Amino acid sequence: MAKRNIIVGQSGGPTAVINSSLAGVYKTAIERGFDTVYGMLHGIQGFLDEQYVDLSTQIHSDMDIELLKRTPSAFLGSCRYKLPEIHEDMEIYEKIFDILDKLEIEVFIYIGGNDSMDTIKKLSDYAIVKGHSQKFLGVPKTIDNDLALTDHTPGFGSAAKYIAASTKEVIRDALGLAYKKDMVTIIEIMGRNAGWLTGATALAKTEECEGPDLIYLPEVTFDIDKFCEKIKELLKVKQSIVVAVSEGIKVADGRYVCELSGGGDYVDPFGHKQLAGTAAYLANFLGAQIGCKTRAIEFSTLQRSASHMASRVDIDEAFMVGGAAVKAADEGDTGKMVVIDRLSDDPYMGTAGIYDVHKIANNEKLVPREWMNEDGTYVTDQFVKYIEPLIQGDYTPFMVNGLPQHLVLKK
Ligand code: F6P
Repeated sequence: MAKRNIIVGQSGGPTAVINSSLAGVYKTAIERGFDTVYGMLHGIQGFLDEQYVDLSTQIHSDMDIELLKRTPSAFLGSCRYKLPEIHEDMEIYEKIFDILDKLEIEVFIYIGGNDSMDTIKKLSDYAIVKGHSQKFLGVPKTIDNDLALTDHTPGFGSAAKYIAASTKEVIRDALGLAYKKDMVTIIEIMGRNAGWLTGATALAKTEECEGPDLIYLPEVTFDIDKFCEKIKELLKVKQSIVVAVSEGIKVADGRYVCELSGGGDYVDPFGHKQLAGTAAYLANFLGAQIGCKTRAIEFSTLQRSASHMASRVDIDEAFMVGGAAVKAADEGDTGKMVVIDRLSDDPYMGTAGIYDVHKIANNEKLVPREWMNEDGTYVTDQFVKYIEPLIQGDYTPFMVNGLPQHLVLKK
């Protein structure tokens, strides 16, 4: 009798909860009676080199599932690999389907962001055109929260929680030395062309913390002179200024601020420039213009790997969407991505839905302009209300000798 096998891969930038989705896929696949659950190593790129594992050699117990849910980064390894258009290179598709047939794969699940959904789109299109029976389903994942048609993406809530908590801590640190000396701290946050994560710094504004003084999202053109004026104004009334900037802010001529100092010009296969150095550039610029002490802080990969700060809502939803993808494919869906629909804010409730991946792949969902103030230097209460439920609850790591323990691939 033919086997009912399933394969799952992880793709794009990792998150603190991408492995919770993997755990959700694995657990649901076992419950639904799939024979073997394969994991591709380094996504479709590794799959093309026939790099995969039988996940039952890695996950032995419910305890391992719990450990996997608490493990950051991509357990299976990730990739940023763009499949060619189908008409450009049929051979690569023939190779993929040969391997799928050899492994008797019925369902192919890919956990990723908008670039990774391009893979699901192309493979499901090819399968339909060529009459292959495999089902292709996408599971959303990205700290950037820039996927269309889903209320939010798994990975975002935990990154937002880390960013808000760290911003509070940075503000406290800066205040401690704010005596007879001006100091501007600039925090740079990931998210590419979407400002969702940078806006999350507004959550640092609480009863005992003023929050950042200024927040700059990439959705609004950045004016460096106006920025300098704002800082000068603020320094007249306070000595410690903390500013949150997105790595993706651009000046009027379309250049990223991080490009103004020259620097690296690495571009990934999806055409995305590597963005880093925005805070450093602005801190140097201000230092030269104003002459005060400045400090640049890049949260960098810490914001997507801080599983010790994960949100319980996020971990639970990541697990849920993994399981929902298996269920949908098992019931005949293909060429789709699972989404999260928000049912209510208070108490927060989200549920899994499903959408055509063609409407999601390669699209960027940006922060609506009306969720920022008029001069584009802060986010509104509506923005905060949207994010707040997503950072709630903790998922305590298993601590060993004072440090969080992780599940690691055994090769
Ligand atoms: O897409 C997620 C993301 O974390 C972006 O916010 C960031 O610009 C990018 O990945 C960085 O990717 P890499 O680690 O490949 O440089």
